[in-house]
Amino acid sequence: MRSFLGGEVLGKIERVATGVVGLDEMMGGGVPHLSTVLVAGESGTGKTTLCMQFLCKGAEMGERGLYFSAFSEPPELMLRFISTYEFVNPQYFKGCIKYVDLGGFCEDRERLLQTIEAEVNNFRPQRMVIDSLSVLERALKQEYRPLLLWLARMIRQWPTTTLVAGEPDLGESYPAEIAALVDGVIILYNAEMGCMRRRSMEILKMVGTSHRCGKQAVDISAKGFIVYPGL
Ligand SMILES: Nc1ncnc2c1ncn2[C@@H]1O[C@H](COP(=O)(O)OP(=O)(O)O)[C@@H](O)[C@H]1O
Ligand SMILES: [Mg+2]
Repeated sequence: MRSFLGGEVLGKIERVATGVVGLDEMMGGGVPHLSTVLVAGESGTGKTTLCMQFLCKGAEMGERGLYFSAFSEPPELMLRFISTYEFVNPQYFKGCIKYVDLGGFCEDRERLLQTIEAEVNNFRPQRMVIDSLSVLERALKQEYRPLLLWLARMIRQWPTTTLVAGEPDLGESYPAEIAALVDGVIILYNAEMGCMRRRSMEILKMVGTSHRCGKQAVDISAKGFIVYPGL
């Protein structure tokens, strides 16, 4: 983006395609380049699926993607679970995508920030995912807010487009503390409808983007996370 100087017209913001059909269409091609976007939603709403799709889309185009997991899940198990999705090519995980498990030391703030910083500096990812901040919050307790503020500051300095996953507290639809620090917020829902559930999503905010508002229908299948705008 060019700077606004003496009446010069602002440049267009470069878009980073998420690879999620329908979602990119809702925001003019993708999330803003170098932005940080919160993907919020309760358990099972598709946060991990959407974030993995984002990294796989990058890998398909030769971009490096760094995935930080807070779930203490060995890479083999994670890969086995997500390999049922058609967008996953296991080859991506041998080069373009690096999986880093933070699960073993989630309550150690110093080690967390040292590990995150070292991995980013070594791997130099174009795309990054942190899945999820809410898991880190529960593990870190009063150490969480300093980590969140450090992360918000560091992410702005790294040349990477980032998705952070977060689970809302009971009765809320997104973690407001994270939402205030990021450039975009996407909320995923899986609402109860009698004895059924219906998936949907909405873009709550997205800097520099004239995006579609309101809840849109969603499906998660072997093809991954798909949005049906306007349906
Ligand atoms: N291969 C698949 N085909 C269809 N649906 C799937 C597949 N894998 C996962 N799902 C659906 O997606 C849900 C998991 O989404 P996930 O991304 O793990 O959510 P979250 O990270 O928000 O907890 C599962 O509970 C299931 O309903
Ligand atoms: Mg998940």
